[in-house]
Amino acid sequence: MGFEPTSLIHQALTNQYMAAVPSTPSPVCALRPPWGGGGPAGGLRAGGQTPVSSSRSSLRLVPLFWPWEKVKIGPLSVSPLGFGTWAWGNQFLWGYEEDMDASLQETFNLAVRNGITLFDTADSYGTGRFNGRSEMLLGKFIREYKGPQKDIEDIVIATKFAAYPWRLTSGQFVRACKSSLNRMQLKKIGIGQLHWSTANYAPLQESALWDGLVAMYKKGLVRAVGVSNYGPKQLVKIHDYLKSRGVPLCSAQVQFSLLSMSDEQMELKAVSDSLGIRLISYSPLGLGMLTGKYTASKLPRGPRAILFRQILPGLDPLLSSLREIAERRKKTMPQVAINWCICKGTIPIPGVKSVRQAEENLGSLGWRLSSAEISQLESAARESPQKMIQNIFQTR
Ligand SMILES: NC(=O)c1ccc[n+]([C@@H]2O[C@H](COP(=O)([O-])OP(=O)(O)OC[C@H]3O[C@@H](n4cnc5c(N)ncnc54)[C@H](OP(=O)(O)O)[C@@H]3O)[C@@H](O)[C@H]2O)c1
Repeated sequence: MGFEPTSLIHQALTNQYMAAVPSTPSPVCALRPPWGGGGPAGGLRAGGQTPVSSSRSSLRLVPLFWPWEKVKIGPLSVSPLGFGTWAWGNQFLWGYEEDMDASLQETFNLAVRNGITLFDTADSYGTGRFNGRSEMLLGKFIREYKGPQKDIEDIVIATKFAAYPWRLTSGQFVRACKSSLNRMQLKKIGIGQLHWSTANYAPLQESALWDGLVAMYKKGLVRAVGVSNYGPKQLVKIHDYLKSRGVPLCSAQVQFSLLSMSDEQMELKAVSDSLGIRLISYSPLGLGMLTGKYTASKLPRGPRAILFRQILPGLDPLLSSLREIAERRKKTMPQVAINWCICKGTIPIPGVKSVRQAEENLGSLGWRLSSAEISQLESAARESPQKMIQNIFQTR
């Protein structure tokens, strides 16, 4: 049912999960060369909603990052920015409709043509009859991609396997992996991630799931394994266990943004660094709150409104800072928010629902906030009274 245990919204979702080439040329634009000059990366209007490029073409004119700026994740190497696909198939929270598919395909094509190689999905993404839709769409878009074969070869799909209560054995977890491969019609998954830890409520299940990760890696179904929603202590435990079984743990995915930068996040980052594990930051735009397009009187449709109503009224200092830096830099607010995640040494995976959003978010590449700007953003973030609610399954 498109489950993502991130917040209160997700808590509501938890209750439900038990029931649980473009046909037109992709509008690829060279937003800005990696050295930061030229290119229509700015185009800012107040509110940060403005896209971005004035010129659209089917050719990638300049790369958004240099090959040596690709980021190592275990044995893999990916773009410094990935895209998240939770919304692809999720009607409940993200208002997905089937007629969005053509535009999502263009979004995918645009991303790939511009060097994005990391796409995050999950076997639980997709609500109701769209269960599994995100993985299915990604597989279809890969198959139908009309650009160079090399673009496709470089793609790393990071999918997540839900720790559903009925997945009690390693064999069941391996079957979950095979189902994902089937949905995507791929022979091998890039990163197979355990979606959340059951340590808080079913520790015995946890060890079966770890064995499941080992088995899928040893059977060659995944090129690397990762976790999601693990805290620093639990991360060390699984890292050590997997190591003892000869399996490297390559990534840890966690909610990480200017709205989610607590001591726990920073400790997780430090522990990950010390273990050689790459941090992937999910919800880098605070589910859309950091884009500047929502206010207490202009809320999104659906359950996000409940959360936004609580948090947005206290976000003025942070949003003003994002806006000010964006204007000065000729960037947009989402670009600044995503760039902050990159500057903190993580790989952000903003969710994208349209070509316009992907295009804009690509503009977070090719430049860096200064350390003074980073401090300014972080102190503004600390002034905000309400923070994002953490994932209900996030462990210590
Ligand atoms: N491991 C986990 O438990 C977990 C949990 C959550 C997410 N994730 C992963 O992380 C990815 C990203 O997180 P997220 O989707 O939760 O939140 P996010 O990236 O913070 O926000 C994404 C949403 O912001 C809006 N948006 C994106 N770019 C924009 C732009 N340039 N301008 C204006 N609006 C823009 C879109 O929604 P609207 O247009 O509707 O506002 C989009 O769906 C997910 O897709 C998923 O792959 C993982």
